[in-house]
Amino acid sequence: MFLTSPNKILGLDISDLSLKAVQIRRKMGGNYIQAFNSINLPPGIIEEGVIKDAEKVARLMRQLIQKSANKFTTRYAAISLPETKTFIKVIDIAHTDTQTDKVRDLISKELPRHMPLEMSEVQVDWQEIGNDHKYRKFLVAAVPRVIAEEYIKLCGLAQLEVVALEIEAQAITRAILPLAAEGNQRAWWNKLPWQKTKEATNNNKKDEGAKIILDLGATRTSIILLDKGIIQFANSIANISGEKITRTIMERKNLSYTKAEKAKLICGSDAKKCKGVIRDIMIEVIDELVKEIINTINFYQDHFSGQTKDLEIILCGGGSNMNRLDEILGKKLQRKILIANPLANISGELPRKIGNLYAYTTAIGLALKNMA
Ligand SMILES: Nc1ncnc2c1ncn2[C@@H]1O[C@H](COP(=O)(O)OP(=O)(O)OP(=O)(O)O)[C@@H](O)[C@H]1O
Ligand SMILES: [Mg+2]
Repeated sequence: MFLTSPNKILGLDISDLSLKAVQIRRKMGGNYIQAFNSINLPPGIIEEGVIKDAEKVARLMRQLIQKSANKFTTRYAAISLPETKTFIKVIDIAHTDTQTDKVRDLISKELPRHMPLEMSEVQVDWQEIGNDHKYRKFLVAAVPRVIAEEYIKLCGLAQLEVVALEIEAQAITRAILPLAAEGNQRAWWNKLPWQKTKEATNNNKKDEGAKIILDLGATRTSIILLDKGIIQFANSIANISGEKITRTIMERKNLSYTKAEKAKLICGSDAKKCKGVIRDIMIEVIDELVKEIINTINFYQDHFSGQTKDLEIILCGGGSNMNRLDEILGKKLQRKILIANPLANISGELPRKIGNLYAYTTAIGLALKNMA
């Protein structure tokens, strides 16, 4: 939801263990990355999305913006709120009802059935995403007011003004699917013939059909189910995460955190490296992930009557850098696995080399808010 609409914003992804910011510059109808930066947070200052030490986080946020190699030139920020604390839901409203009642009233009546909060406790945003002969379909996003206020206050401490609040699944989807999927017109610049080569290489171009986006983060994995480019639901799984893999390596190999993290990145899923020990741990986690994906697909078939025969899976987040993850998942699930392109809606070169592009997916999606 947009609170005000300035013409320059930065996307700010606030996670338990990292802050990432991206600013996009619009030129001749194209979106160019002007600045990006990330910073690790020490454990404990944000825990499961709850801000424990606002002063410290705000100080690091200032550093993130001021010490960036390329300049951020706005104090207006679009932020996402912790996945576990937000709700996103498709609500069907009968045409006959919308003739008599206002959509807002109908959503207010229906939404409390799908979340453990009262309407007075949440900020709500919605968009109409389709209709059939009987129902109008609305994608409704709800954010608890207390959480929203806490994050706005935190950004205020860092002299940033929050102008948009979003559910992370919305930001991720915006980054990796062509912007037209949001109902926006693609810029005329992107329709020019010489832009075709870039479009052809964009492996996420086809936005029809069911898809699962997996955001493999440090502290959790998010599963977002999309159909026809529209989010149907999103879930966060706390026990599948990059941190969990690192901590398991620490315990089993009796290593420090830093060494375990290094072993994870170097040996990964390669059976020939580190005597295959790291690979075995990774496979255990991948097997859990496979179970969750199968459950999600079954849930979508049973509760949404969704078509899942050709469902494809798109990987993003830092964990998608894991060596051969796409190949292993593809074999286990017998489905098409794609690695997301977080630059699907970005033109031109990056201002400098980016270390871990997939980890910037959310920040890029936030920075793209309101860019056609
Ligand atoms: N090559 C790699 N192999 C395996 N894991 C990797 C690799 N590169 C990065 N990671 C892992 O990705 C994770 C960081 O991803 P990301 O930056 O998306 O998380 P985050 O946004 O900070 O966390 P969250 O989204 O859970 O709040 C770390 O656990 C890191 O170890
Ligand atoms: Mg993340």
